[in-house]
Amino acid sequence: MNKAVRKAIIAGNWKMNKTPNEAKELLTQITPLVKDADCDVIACVPYVDLQTALDATQGTNVKIGAENCHWEKSGAFTGEISAEMLKAMGIEYVIIGHSERRQYFGETDVTVNKRVRAALDAGLTVILCVGELLSEREQGITAETVSLQTKVALQGVSAEELSKIVIAYEPVWAIGTGLTATADQAEEVCAIIRNVLADLYCEKCAQAVTIQYGGSMNDANAAELLSKENVDGGLIGGASLVAEKFAAIVKAASV
Ligand code: 13P
Repeated sequence: MNKAVRKAIIAGNWKMNKTPNEAKELLTQITPLVKDADCDVIACVPYVDLQTALDATQGTNVKIGAENCHWEKSGAFTGEISAEMLKAMGIEYVIIGHSERRQYFGETDVTVNKRVRAALDAGLTVILCVGELLSEREQGITAETVSLQTKVALQGVSAEELSKIVIAYEPVWAIGTGLTATADQAEEVCAIIRNVLADLYCEKCAQAVTIQYGGSMNDANAAELLSKENVDGGLIGGASLVAEKFAAIVKAASV
């Protein structure tokens, strides 16, 4: 089995950008540019933009995701949003464990696992982010770091549920820095993640999982990154906020 059997997925992670009106404008620009995509196209947007984004992409091939969710179904968690709430409004995807959540909001491998479980239980597809810090790469512990993050995040997730998991390998040093991992570096770590999945589940299960690269991916470097055997798509930050750049990445994944 090889890359050809996996679904290529290009997802934008808008982070804390765009008001509802701006979201509508950007999606109105994006949708015609990506309508012939031969890959899945997702825009993960701030909570307050979700309804606008659903409306703006209705009847198109662009799917909408959220950028986080809480692990409880409901309750006294001021300011939080549950996976059930997202599902109820028609959202299909949710990013979990982004390095910015880990870095600024106290996210740990254990809370990532709780959120993954909640998202799956609600029927959402998870884009699970893993990736090493620069210091971890320099210490030579990238493989250990990423393997541990993957294993803990997937605790209690069955082989059948893997079809609802996408993994995004995002080296933290490459996010928003303009420093992209080389295609070989991305391939090496995506292959390590796939081996972890093979150990946890089975080789065939691992071959079916879409593994994205994220970190300063743009219209200029996407084709090379996506040409690698184990790089099945991209999670795009900055370049997903510019319709033409995002569409060019979608095009690079569609060949
Ligand atoms: P940039 O593409 O801006 O580096 O962000 C990557 C990212 O964090 C996507 O989740």
